[in-house]
Amino acid sequence: MSNRKKVLFVCLGNICRSPLAEGILKKKLEDTGLDSSFEVDSCGTGDWHIGETPDHRTQANARQNGIILESRARQLKPEDLDYYDHILVMDRSNLNNTIKLDPGDNLGKVELLRNYDPQGQGRDVPDPYFGGSEGFQNVFDILNRSIEYWLTTQKQN
Ligand code: 4NP
Repeated sequence: MSNRKKVLFVCLGNICRSPLAEGILKKKLEDTGLDSSFEVDSCGTGDWHIGETPDHRTQANARQNGIILESRARQLKPEDLDYYDHILVMDRSNLNNTIKLDPGDNLGKVELLRNYDPQGQGRDVPDPYFGGSEGFQNVFDILNRSIEYWLTTQKQN
């Protein structure tokens, strides 16, 4: 049986924030030789974008930061709450919608990603979908530092 830690990022559409979070964590794991110790995926609570590649603005931002995104959008399903060890959600709305799907006793696995942000602990990751391009770099910076800190907490365990 694999003892890889299984990590799932959750947002609304799975085309902006959570695919970027997935790409950032995968890159950090590759860069530090830890990629075989983790399984990483992302999904959305909504169903509008199932099967789509990430938003072109998210892809452009990721590329500017040295990351190629390869995910296709999928919707969160109840079994995900049983399967994943860490379910890191972008905002309070995602948190409520994720918790509602829990088929068992998994609420301890579900956390706001920004609980790990040294510069905005417990806040929401803003949704950049309806804003300008500067919003995407802001989201990148928030995700990057939150994931960096989250990873240090994993290395201690
Ligand atoms: P995401 O952003 O949750 O970060 O992927 C959104 C993408 C699409 C929509 C909303 C947010 N939408 O309304 O279609």
